[in-house]
Amino acid sequence: MAYTVVLVLHNLWRWLVVLAAIYATARAWFGWLGKRPWTKTDQRAGALFGISLDIQLLLGLILAIISPLMQAAYQDLAGLAMQAPFRTFLMEHMPIMFVAVILVHVGSAAARKGADDGARHRRAALWFSVAVLLIAVAIPWSRPLFRF
Ligand code: HEM
Repeated sequence: MAYTVVLVLHNLWRWLVVLAAIYATARAWFGWLGKRPWTKTDQRAGALFGISLDIQLLLGLILAIISPLMQAAYQDLAGLAMQAPFRTFLMEHMPIMFVAVILVHVGSAAARKGADDGARHRRAALWFSVAVLLIAVAIPWSRPLFRF
């Protein structure tokens, strides 16, 4: 029961992460290339991206503990855990997403400390873009796009 609720939340929250990612990254690129001033909205867009990821991380960590799929994998680390889909979650989904979360937070902080508005947008654009690429490849697209 708790598993189903968290799995549905993790499944659907992914779309908020995707929207927040596109919004923050697009603002950073347009801001950089269009030489726009760095505003509070740019700062907030990065923070929103980070917060959406933190919530997804929390849901993911709960899943990593309570998921029957993952529990079965932990029982047999040399055998079952090395086969799909367990391997994908253990060796790709979770570690890659951890790195993406860190990149977004580091990128937001680096952007805030930029010497001028151009540097702030450039830092946000580059850090967020790498994170977006990692998130895009690590989302398990073969699983349901929406769960209710
Ligand atoms: C470090 C953070 C994360 C951890 C620890 C984590 C963990 C997990 C685990 C353990 C599962 C398998 C659940 C199961 O089938 O029983 C899962 C599935 C999934 N994760 Fe994550 N995840 C994280 C981040 C993310 C992010 C950032 C996204 C997307 C933006 C995402 C999207 C998904 C999707 C779409 C599924 C498939 C859900 C389904 O089958 O309905 N995860 N995650």
